[in-house]
Amino acid sequence: MSSRAASLSGALPRHVAIIMDGNGRWAKKRLLNRVRGHEKGAETVRMVVRATRELGIGHLTLYAFSTENWQRPASEVSALMILLTRFLNSEKSELLENGIRLEAIGDLSRLPEKVLNTLDHIRGVTAGNRDMVLTLALSYGAREEILSAVRGLAADAAAGRLDPAGITEADFASRLYTAKTPDPDLLIRTSGEMRISNFLLWQAAYAELFFTPTLWPDFSKEEYLSILNDYAARERRFGRTGDQLTEF
Ligand code: FPP
Repeated sequence: MSSRAASLSGALPRHVAIIMDGNGRWAKKRLLNRVRGHEKGAETVRMVVRATRELGIGHLTLYAFSTENWQRPASEVSALMILLTRFLNSEKSELLENGIRLEAIGDLSRLPEKVLNTLDHIRGVTAGNRDMVLTLALSYGAREEILSAVRGLAADAAAGRLDPAGITEADFASRLYTAKTPDPDLLIRTSGEMRISNFLLWQAAYAELFFTPTLWPDFSKEEYLSILNDYAARERRFGRTGDQLTEF
């Protein structure tokens, strides 16, 4: 793969995070079973991973299954788990060939054993890859992640290992699933919903948000590049003034 796409100009995000939404509506519009929408959505995942790698973006995090998604009909949950396992197995060689490390965040203990074993295997064999990190958020919920970090800090404080008054943002961030990952610079959500839906609530504090009405199965490489161009044109101020930024 080439390291940069020709049609992009300006600053690239270091980390792109995506809420992949609209598989069900895509299928419904075509009078198909929702699972067909997820299958088509998996093809979009493949395209986005490839494009991200080609562009030289270091981190891609995909919201593939939320803690709330466990409440879906059992048949849909199990179809999603099968699809995920199939995807992981089919992408293994491409991840290896392209230096992509697979990571997963979320309450992975809730995943079926087969998914967990496949995930562990692919994480293991790709652990040495350095060119890009693909993180799948699975059984993920940001509030739960935050609560678990808080519990860890509280336990350390109660045991006298930590001074509550001295707790820093870095202390907190180091207890999140994403401890070793830079915060997302760009957060995309497809399907027209304008919500964050419990995704990376702490980490996305300064992310540029981009909402598109396109349903995930219809999301194309052209649209991805156009969003990245839009991102490059935005001024990220992190609370400073525009004039202050030009002084750097
Ligand atoms: C949201 O669409 C999508 C999901 C809950 C699952 C995302 C899964 C995939 C894209 C495919 C498998 C994943 C991988 C990583 C291979 P929705 O079902 O909520 O759509 P709706 O809002 O239109 O009903």
